[in-house]
Amino acid sequence: MDMNQVKAFVFDAYGTLFDVFSVIEKCEELYPNKGNQISQTWRKKQLEYSYLRQMMGNYRPFSEVTRKALRYAVEEAGAELTQEKEDSLLHAYQHLSVYKEVPQVLKDLKEKGVTLAIFSNGSHDMLDPLVKQSPLAEYLDYVISADDIKQFKPTPASYTHALNFLELKRENILFMSSNGWDISGAKNFGFHTAWINRNDLPVEYLNLPPDAIYDDLKDILNWVN
Ligand code: LAC
Repeated sequence: MDMNQVKAFVFDAYGTLFDVFSVIEKCEELYPNKGNQISQTWRKKQLEYSYLRQMMGNYRPFSEVTRKALRYAVEEAGAELTQEKEDSLLHAYQHLSVYKEVPQVLKDLKEKGVTLAIFSNGSHDMLDPLVKQSPLAEYLDYVISADDIKQFKPTPASYTHALNFLELKRENILFMSSNGWDISGAKNFGFHTAWINRNDLPVEYLNLPPDAIYDDLKDILNWVN
C-alpha cells in the first residue's frame, strides 16, 4: 500500500465529520428523558432503511429516509410527533456540530494542496445546507452524494460514482468513515481506507479490514507526503 499515491481525501459525512448525536439535546428538549433513546433509534433506523431500500431496489432520497426513521423512533418511544416537532428535529439535523478536531485537520490538509471531498449517502437537500453552515465549507472542494446516482453506500456503484466524479484511480483515494459498514464497502471497492473508530468498536467480521484505524481524524495527516 503506497501512501504516497493518495491525491484525494474523501470523507463520509454523518458520524465522521458531523456528530449525528448532537441532535440529542433537541430530542431531549422535545421528549424529556427519551432524547437518547430516540436519537439512537433514529440513526439505527435511518441506516436500516437505506440498506433495505437498496436491497429492495426501492430507492428514496436519504432526506426522506431520515424523516421516516425519525417517525419510527418517536413512535417506538411511545411519544407523539407533531409536524412542528418533526420539522424542528430535521432542521437540527442540518445544524449538526462537527467533531472538535475536524476543522484544523481539514485546514492542515488543504494547506498541503490535496483534494478534499465528502462522499455521503445524504442527499444534497440535507448535505449542502449542513456543510454551508459549518466551519468546513471553506476547506471542502466537493460534496458528492449517492443521490446523484440513486445507489446507496456500500454498493460498488456508489463508490464508482465518487471515483468517476473525482477522475482519479482507486489507489489515489483515501476514504475515511466512522461507520464500519462504510469502510468495509470502500475496502471492498478498492479504496485506501482509514476507519475513524470514534466509539472503540470491533472491526466488522467481513474479511475487509481497514488499512488504518484511528481514534479520530488527527492521524490521517500521516497520509500526506
Ligand atoms: C453518510 C452516512 C450514511 O453516508 O454516514 O454520510
